[in-house]
Amino acid sequence: MQLQLSTWIEVEAYLQSSKAIIIPMGSTEQHGPSGLIGTDAICAEVVARAAGDEAGFLVAPTFNVGQAQHHMAFAGSMTLRPSTMIAAMVDWANSLKCHGFTRLYWLNGHGGNIATINAAFGEIYHAQSFAIAGSAGSSVRCQLRNWWELEGVQALVKDLYPQGEGHHATPSEVAVTQFAYPQAIKGAALSPRIAPIGDFTDAADYRRTFPDGRIGSDPAQASPEHGKRFVEIATKALIAEFAKFAAS
Ligand code: NI
Repeated sequence: MQLQLSTWIEVEAYLQSSKAIIIPMGSTEQHGPSGLIGTDAICAEVVARAAGDEAGFLVAPTFNVGQAQHHMAFAGSMTLRPSTMIAAMVDWANSLKCHGFTRLYWLNGHGGNIATINAAFGEIYHAQSFAIAGSAGSSVRCQLRNWWELEGVQALVKDLYPQGEGHHATPSEVAVTQFAYPQAIKGAALSPRIAPIGDFTDAADYRRTFPDGRIGSDPAQASPEHGKRFVEIATKALIAEFAKFAAS
């Protein structure tokens, strides 16, 4: 069940039985020569929507631009400043809280977002802690889960990609996008086959260190069939975890 495909009457009815909603989050950033720029947002969105459809959970629109300043030397990448992202997340949370949603489950698809998401949670809880009246019954609780940490996903990664999963433009995330959008599968020569690993600071440093955009990965191993398996495993785990969170 997607928020943007629902009417206000349906959302009002949903709120009678649940105060919980999944918010998929990602980034809009380069994912190497063969990975889609929307990869991180697509992964979280596909898993969230599959769980929402199967179990009747409400899924918010995807928060699809995140922390990607280090990718800005590659065409098409977009980024928010940390302060903008925190402010936007607080506004999203307040909007949902206004209607009675008190369990906000943020399903994230981008490692670079994690610090800022936790800072936004701090901002949300800060306002709550300083609210004087009546907050106990209606306090918002947030949960962050990275989709690749859902139960079973890393076991499948190790099984399918003993080498070359890497850190960015990984075969697992590329596989999920290939399953979701087979019409957008890209072929590209990858050299070296497994990309280098290392640290980086800003966009220029990143491009110098990782010239084609990948970090430590060999996304040529990805396939739509792999993507289907990742989505199935992640969806099953998400349904179980979200149900528990919604009841907390
Ligand atoms: Ni990614």
